[in-house]
Amino acid sequence: MPPDLKSYLLVFLGTFLFLGAFIILLATLYTKKQQRNKNEKKEMQLQYHQTLLQSQLEIQEQTFKNISQEIHDNIGQALTLAKLNLNTMPSVTDQQKEKIFTTKEIISKTISDLRDLSRSLNTDYIADMGLQKAIEYEMNLISKSSSIKTETITEGKPFVIDKQKELILFRIVQEVLNNAIKHSEAKSIIAKMIYGSDSFELLITDNGKGFKIDDPKREKQPGSGLGLRNMDNRAKLIGASFSMNSGPGAGTEVRIILPFSHSV
Ligand SMILES: Nc1ncnc2c1ncn2[C@@H]1O[C@H](COP(=O)(O)OP(=O)(O)OP(=O)(O)O)[C@@H](O)[C@H]1O
Ligand SMILES: [Mg+2]
Repeated sequence: MPPDLKSYLLVFLGTFLFLGAFIILLATLYTKKQQRNKNEKKEMQLQYHQTLLQSQLEIQEQTFKNISQEIHDNIGQALTLAKLNLNTMPSVTDQQKEKIFTTKEIISKTISDLRDLSRSLNTDYIADMGLQKAIEYEMNLISKSSSIKTETITEGKPFVIDKQKELILFRIVQEVLNNAIKHSEAKSIIAKMIYGSDSFELLITDNGKGFKIDDPKREKQPGSGLGLRNMDNRAKLIGASFSMNSGPGAGTEVRIILPFSHSV
């Protein structure tokens, strides 16, 4: 081969290789950029979802607070007045006296129930009490007002958890307990709080009839509740894991784990 042709070939090959490498580099950079955009979009969607959820929760908390105040300030006061009025009834027969007594009892019970409800709804009250006490309080309410036996167990040395996270955990617990009362026909409910070395764990078990968790029929029903979905979303919002174990005839167990790194 003449030396000229050889050097032409070499230059051609070199240019070809260089161009090839350049195209591969461009393609890699392009794919990386696309991947980055995709990730950024995903991240933005996630953040949007979190913000939306956060504001929904804030609105819900404000509504709870307003209802709580309304119960305390207006309904509670009105019932107290009604009771006072009954005390000052002018001369009554023995039969009427008995009726008045029973009515007063009913009003007293209603005032006490409303006070309990008002506390359960009030964000400040829960924040002041702290999660552990608030859960104990809620469990006692159940055993007081129904035939369900409750037990609250605390393991480990309680540590401080961020107030906002405590409130979200408490709202999850309330929904778990509401579900147990509404659907499970359980005889007993146990709530266990485990303050571990690297996490805070909540375990709520009922010995009721249980249910099929992944039942597409139930999920598609028009009146199908939001409770389960909300609990899962709420847990995600604070970096906790949420899992549920249940089956027909096997009771229901809910486990929420808040890793320690997220809890300070
Ligand atoms: N502890 C439980 N025992 C038995 N069934 C349960 C229990 N918890 C939930 N379920 C079943 O799962 C369904 C979905 O629960 P979810 O909380 O999402 O909705 P809901 O309680 O029916 O309505 P909502 O919470 O919106 O008022 C319930 O309707 C019930 O059939
Ligand atoms: Mg529910």
